[in-house]
Amino acid sequence: MRALRGRLFHLKGSSFRDPKPEWYDDGLLVINDEGLIESLGEAHLMVPDLPDHCQVVDHRPYWILPGFVDVHTHFVQLDIIASHGESLLNWLERYTFPAEERFISPEVSAETARYFLNEMLSHGVTTASVYGSVHQTSCEALFSEAEYLGMRLLAGKALMNRNAPEALIQHDRQGRDLEATQSLIERWHGRKRLSYSLTPRFAPTSTDEQMRWVGGMFQASLAGGVSSGPLFLQSHLAENLDECRWVASLYPDSRSYCQVYETFQQLGPGAIYGHCIHLNDTDRALMASRGASIAFCPSSNLFLGSGLFDLDAAVSAGIKVGLGTDLGAGTSMSMFKTMLNAYQVCKLRGQTLSPEGAFFLATLGGAEALGLDQLIGNFQVGKEADLQVLNPVAIPLIERRFQKTTTRSEELFALLALGDERCLVATYVLGDRGVTGHTH
Ligand code: GUN
Ligand code: ZN
Repeated sequence: MRALRGRLFHLKGSSFRDPKPEWYDDGLLVINDEGLIESLGEAHLMVPDLPDHCQVVDHRPYWILPGFVDVHTHFVQLDIIASHGESLLNWLERYTFPAEERFISPEVSAETARYFLNEMLSHGVTTASVYGSVHQTSCEALFSEAEYLGMRLLAGKALMNRNAPEALIQHDRQGRDLEATQSLIERWHGRKRLSYSLTPRFAPTSTDEQMRWVGGMFQASLAGGVSSGPLFLQSHLAENLDECRWVASLYPDSRSYCQVYETFQQLGPGAIYGHCIHLNDTDRALMASRGASIAFCPSSNLFLGSGLFDLDAAVSAGIKVGLGTDLGAGTSMSMFKTMLNAYQVCKLRGQTLSPEGAFFLATLGGAEALGLDQLIGNFQVGKEADLQVLNPVAIPLIERRFQKTTTRSEELFALLALGDERCLVATYVLGDRGVTGHTH
């Protein structure tokens, strides 16, 4: 048993509009031997009653927050981050696909997975939903490394069997990609904190046969057909107008792009769709009724000029929304930068995103979007103790700004807008201190 003392902050609400912040300026978080949260509250009230064997780690005056949840990113795009000047379809062709071809190599996969996940932990991210390349090797490496680090992770190999370079096309005679997918599911799905996510890249790169097979597998798993629990599914939807026109030309009879995923039974709980910028109200109502969620990836959307996501419309429709960094179209692994970009996108849309609302999206909201909010996302008793210790004033400009702030909310916003990984003191995964950050 161990207890962490510091300034505790987490969200207990059910939406970014009503995030229900809870603060303990001198708080104590007690973690049991399974790495689950045992209790939390005011330190001066709890410390006298702690059992003798409980080790107290004093992080005062630092802040203790839930680990960030990144609901959409591509580890196989790490090396093409910040590739200048294209929009989605050209960017995929010119930079992304060639970069992903390298992940046929187990060595490239292992080295990149290690770098990527360590970098995530150094940014306070403790759970993510990650795309591999089409190669089984990429996901083997990623899952192995995540297991070693003890992280909660969703991942899957990308499925593509048309409209991609020859080297990235994979399918059997029925258009499926059965062997590699099944072998990954058997080995990793439900093992420790790992889950498999079926990953049809997006509608243009899978044939109808492949789409039907994926939807069938997803629905069968939701109906209880996979012993280790329902599979997840991740894909891209309505990110860019040229992409939308392309899908319309491939599926001229479909009511919309979103309807294509519905037709192939790929909307459901545990299905997470990246971007969803160019949707209409019928699409949103459909996603909400199926329980599919959205990864809002503002950094990527600004970088590729894809458009401005309508957060209010998505949440008003009843869709769960989390934040994604979307590397390598996103330009940072920092959830601080991603929250700031989300705030800016909302501003350009004439919408409001409060500091507490932004932290909600980056923690509990992300957990809800992944359907993992029973396990992670805040400090509710019984949840897994994934958390980050932050020293906001490690950045001199924040220290200076804090001299003029008068409320917790103002401090939180200054941290969101000016913070980065220099503020990270430590990341704890399931109650264990893993990566040590930049300040001590
Ligand atoms: N749409 C299909 N593939 C991708 C990808 O790798 N990144 C982004 N941002 N959009 C996509
Ligand atoms: Zn993406």
